[in-house]
Amino acid sequence: MKLKDKTVLITGSGSGLGREMALVFTREGAKIGVNDVRPEAAQNVVTEIERAGGRAVRLVADVSDSAAVRKMFADFTAAFGAIDVLVNNAGIGRVRPGSEATATVDKTDEEWHKMLATHLDATFYCTREALKLMIPKQSGRIINLGSIVGLTGIELAADYGAAKGGIISFTKCVAREVVRHGILVNCIAPGFIETPMTAPLPPELRRMVIARTPIGRFGEPRDIAAAALFLACEDSSFMVGQVMSPNGGYVI
Ligand SMILES: NC(=O)c1ccc[n+]([C@@H]2O[C@H](COP(=O)([O-])OP(=O)(O)OC[C@H]3O[C@@H](n4cnc5c(N)ncnc54)[C@H](O)[C@@H]3O)[C@@H](O)[C@H]2O)c1
Repeated sequence: MKLKDKTVLITGSGSGLGREMALVFTREGAKIGVNDVRPEAAQNVVTEIERAGGRAVRLVADVSDSAAVRKMFADFTAAFGAIDVLVNNAGIGRVRPGSEATATVDKTDEEWHKMLATHLDATFYCTREALKLMIPKQSGRIINLGSIVGLTGIELAADYGAAKGGIISFTKCVAREVVRHGILVNCIAPGFIETPMTAPLPPELRRMVIARTPIGRFGEPRDIAAAALFLACEDSSFMVGQVMSPNGGYVI
């Protein structure tokens, strides 16, 4: 087991990539804090973990709210005592579920701030709380979810791309700052992966993505969970401030 008795907090793990990481990490012996803003989604994953014989605590919180993040960390430590790994994964593809992608010229202040807050503010708030616990024990791993959109850009997603590009830069800065405390900070920048976030993409956009992806398909959540497991465990002890991008060749 690669994560025996490690304590891991995964934001937005009620669905998609975060859920898959939670299940894979459980099989590797970790105890999981399952955060989501949607209580039922978080509960379902906690139940799945418990049925598989693992240990999990449900942490319902909006990670774009710093007070809610502070409480979430207090609840996590009350349950598990310490934090070994934080995965900043919670995210949104659109500001409102089902809403259309909008051109930069049409984006509202509210849309812009919500996108930045959900990804970038949340990554900062959770990282800050995690570091308060990791620095005293001089160890820890932080894994941030970027995106190929933060590497190459994409039309109609300037807010999302700015947030993800910000997360990539944030990763590099914090990685340099805290490596001397034994804390490794890295980023995963996935390509297009089959999850509830990408399910509503219109067929013509899916065809365009597949045509631009040398491997000729979307990725699966397990492709990203495998990268996350690598960054969470001892195998990656020389990885500092890196951006791993499982993307089927979309970006080479
Ligand atoms: N699926 C992809 O193709 C893809 C590609 C690149 C990056 N990503 C990133 O990976 C991460 C996970 O995406 P996914 O595809 O699993 O999406 P998803 O929609 O399946 O899951 C995201 C989860 O985050 C939760 N969430 C949203 N806002 C939150 C908040 N403020 N507080 C707490 N929880 C919140 C949602 O309720 C949901 O359960 C996101 O950061 C996303 O941007 C996804």
